[in-house]
Amino acid sequence: MAKTKVGVLISGRGTNLQSLIAATAAPDYPVEIALVISNRPRASGLKYAEMAAIKHTVIDHNAFPDRESFETAINALLREAKVDYVCLAGFMRILTDRFVGNWRGRLLNIHPSLLPSFKGLNVHERMIDAGVKIAGCTVHFVSTEMDAGAIIGQAAIKVLPNDNAKSLAARILKIEHRLYPTCLQAVVEGSARLSGGVVKFDAPIKAGHALLNPTTSGA
Ligand code: GRF
Repeated sequence: MAKTKVGVLISGRGTNLQSLIAATAAPDYPVEIALVISNRPRASGLKYAEMAAIKHTVIDHNAFPDRESFETAINALLREAKVDYVCLAGFMRILTDRFVGNWRGRLLNIHPSLLPSFKGLNVHERMIDAGVKIAGCTVHFVSTEMDAGAIIGQAAIKVLPNDNAKSLAARILKIEHRLYPTCLQAVVEGSARLSGGVVKFDAPIKAGHALLNPTTSGA
């Protein structure tokens, strides 16, 4: 089976990159990670690419006079690696409209909240402060407005009474690692399609039960 080439952009820890790499180990997973780019020279996540013998490189934004030239360098490497899709995985640079436009429908991001709630930074603290009872994560297409592109998939967990930002972040991260590979697969295989600004799925999705919190039933 010919695999679809994907590029992954990171800035730090790289655990979502790690989960994508792990998914690609399955023979029937339709993706090959062709290139990993970090904008930070010391991003620890680069080690996952190293360990998996995936081509990886640093494009340090500080070495460029402006966003456009930084992105031109990234774009050139992505094109050279012949990637069809790009996954942002903890990539902490804002992308220009031009870059996003070039990759429209082929640029994915993961965000640690149930969008459109809690866009932006410091999400976990803000969720704890707001007292939300259900939290989660979202994989979405990137649009020119931050954290506002069409939602591909979401996963939810309960916020527990003693949660703080750190414990909540750790539990959300676990489901991020399941959600991102699943959503990327659906996009690459064409079962998730952009239609009228939202993502529609061709295949029926199993109707599970609702996630209630609090609940008395042990669900
Ligand atoms: C994740 O929480 C992701 O949702 C957000 O940045 C974090 C990156 O974590 N966009 P990691 O670098 O993948 O471990």
